[in-house]
Amino acid sequence: MEDYELFNRKTKAFIFGTQQRAGQRMLDFDYLSQRETPSVAGFITPTGEGYYHLFWGTKEIRVPRYRSIEEAVKAHPDADVMINFASERSSAETTMEALETETIRTVVMIAEGVPQRDTRKIAAFAKKNNKWVIGPATVGGIKAGAFKIGNAGGTIENIKELKLYRPGSVGFVSVSGGMSNEGYNICHLNSDGIYEGIAVGGDVYPATTLLDHLLRYEKNPKIKMMVCLGEVGGTDEYEIAKAVKNGEITKPLVMWVTGTCAKVLPGQVQFGHAGAKADREEATAQAKNKALREAGVIVPNSFDDFGEKIRETFEKLKAEGKIEPVVEPTPPNIPMDYSAAVAQGLVRRPTHFISTICDERGELHNYCGVPIDEVIKKGYGIGGVIGLLWFKKDLPKYAREFIELVLQIVADHGPAVSGAHNTIVTARAGKGLIESIISGIVTIGPRFGGAVNGAAEHFTWGLENNMSPREFVDAMKAKNVRIQGIGHRIHSVENPDARVQIMIEFARKHFPKTPLLDYALAVEKVTTMKKSSLILNVDGCIGVLCVDLLKNLGYSDKEIKEMIKMGFFNALFILGRTIGFMGHYFDQKRLKTPLYRHPWDDILYDVPEKPDKVENVEK
Ligand code: ACO
Ligand code: LMR
Repeated sequence: MEDYELFNRKTKAFIFGTQQRAGQRMLDFDYLSQRETPSVAGFITPTGEGYYHLFWGTKEIRVPRYRSIEEAVKAHPDADVMINFASERSSAETTMEALETETIRTVVMIAEGVPQRDTRKIAAFAKKNNKWVIGPATVGGIKAGAFKIGNAGGTIENIKELKLYRPGSVGFVSVSGGMSNEGYNICHLNSDGIYEGIAVGGDVYPATTLLDHLLRYEKNPKIKMMVCLGEVGGTDEYEIAKAVKNGEITKPLVMWVTGTCAKVLPGQVQFGHAGAKADREEATAQAKNKALREAGVIVPNSFDDFGEKIRETFEKLKAEGKIEPVVEPTPPNIPMDYSAAVAQGLVRRPTHFISTICDERGELHNYCGVPIDEVIKKGYGIGGVIGLLWFKKDLPKYAREFIELVLQIVADHGPAVSGAHNTIVTARAGKGLIESIISGIVTIGPRFGGAVNGAAEHFTWGLENNMSPREFVDAMKAKNVRIQGIGHRIHSVENPDARVQIMIEFARKHFPKTPLLDYALAVEKVTTMKKSSLILNVDGCIGVLCVDLLKNLGYSDKEIKEMIKMGFFNALFILGRTIGFMGHYFDQKRLKTPLYRHPWDDILYDVPEKPDKVENVEK
């Protein structure tokens, strides 16, 4: 690459900062320009490493992320540009670090507000080491059909419209990034388009000046004419006038210094750039335009004629045979991002996932349509939340209270029951919370805690088939099936389970009707006559009361059966008892209990002296 060229169609750059969108825009430009390879070698993101997923046309590619400039440079010695999106606090430091590497030749400083002192130091270092810095306070620039700096040139539609995917003959340079887009458009309308465009940035002392870039363009034989947009403030334009006068600049240069209104308007005019203020006559736009015109620069009478002057100059060069005809490539299509297409209503697709209970996309997520702040404000409580998320219903007060009552009642039943026992043994084996509670939860089933569903099913079957309690018990015995929800290891008629009594009392007081509970209690009368431990147990009581509750809430028999099939009622026991399992886990950890080993004297060892021998059996 010649000295005066900063970029070509093979240029590889690093992006410093988490600027995936800028990276994607660069890649889209590359693809549109039919470059062979993407221009982004990698991202330098001190907060993380790995990859960003971007698109090369329709194909998804992974672009690496590095934590430091050093790492990135080592991995990509062919990358010679760094687009620095670091903030004004660290832009100077990281720019300097990049310039000090052997391989990075050009750094673009995007940040606004970099201290002037730092920029001067950077500019001096770069000059001394034959390196280039564009900015600070710039969007960067674009080399048509070759390389685009970050967000320069705007959207891909703009780039396509202005044919920036192929080079023209104009070397363009401006102070402002926004005005550079305007400039590209004016050049596009009045010539064969830009060859390269650079915005030097709006600071008082940019690291490279308008003149620095014009002198680069002067040396480039591909650039036939130059267009420049200056700005009120500073004196860079006088240097340009000088360069034209002393023959350093020989190519036709069309130039306009914006900000002439500052003098015409009565009050002070505020321009966006730090450098755009005229504190003395020579810094005014009028004075600069005059000096440039006098030096031989083509200066229009106003910005309105800017395009006209470019056209005249270009046509003249063309008539002189100095402009080579542009080869017009057919740029490939850049696929639209799916999210943009959706936003514009251009595509639709079937979903693969559905949620009818919670939507988190709004400002506040909601439970079945009730925003979470309302859930709290209106005191839904855990019973109300379960109503919304499990039943998808705004449950009445008594139903919420019943759910909460069940959760409290089943929360724990001591360390001896299978679930708590397993949790404790697992915790003592050094395992964590999740493994420990899982080992407890897996014991919940038809014998322990998981008989709620079964109880709902069995008693419903008896009642809906109009069986008397005795007929029901006999029918179950004939089938050799234990009635789920009947029987307890510890509790009996003589030692009743207070938990069951509490639930019954609550239901009698608040439920409009309790037909299945009444039936189950009648069945209990029959079973306890056989054996006093065959009482309606906790699971059974929850199961039948859940059916009664749902009936009271208007659920049909069919709906209730579907809920039983889903394991709905067991869920209350599982949820409640998990509270206890966690308690046991924390208890063991707090007590720092050692590994559990079951005592030998509690194990019946009934091992034969030797195994039965299997004789060879003749076929
Ligand atoms: N239905 C009918 N008969 C039963 C039932 C029942 N649910 N439970 C026990 N029996 C009978 C047995 O067949 C046995 O009869 P037999 O003496 O004629 O052989 C007798 O009662 C004693 O049986 P055991 O298995 O010794 O009773 P145990 O007290 O050990 O069992 C258990 C307790 C496991 C709860 C048992 O009653 C049962 O399986 N019930 C159904 C499942 C259930 O409801 N589990 C939840 C319990 S509560 C909880 O875990 C929170
Ligand atoms: C429980 O709630 O865990 C108990 O009813 C089971 C038991 O065996 O005590």
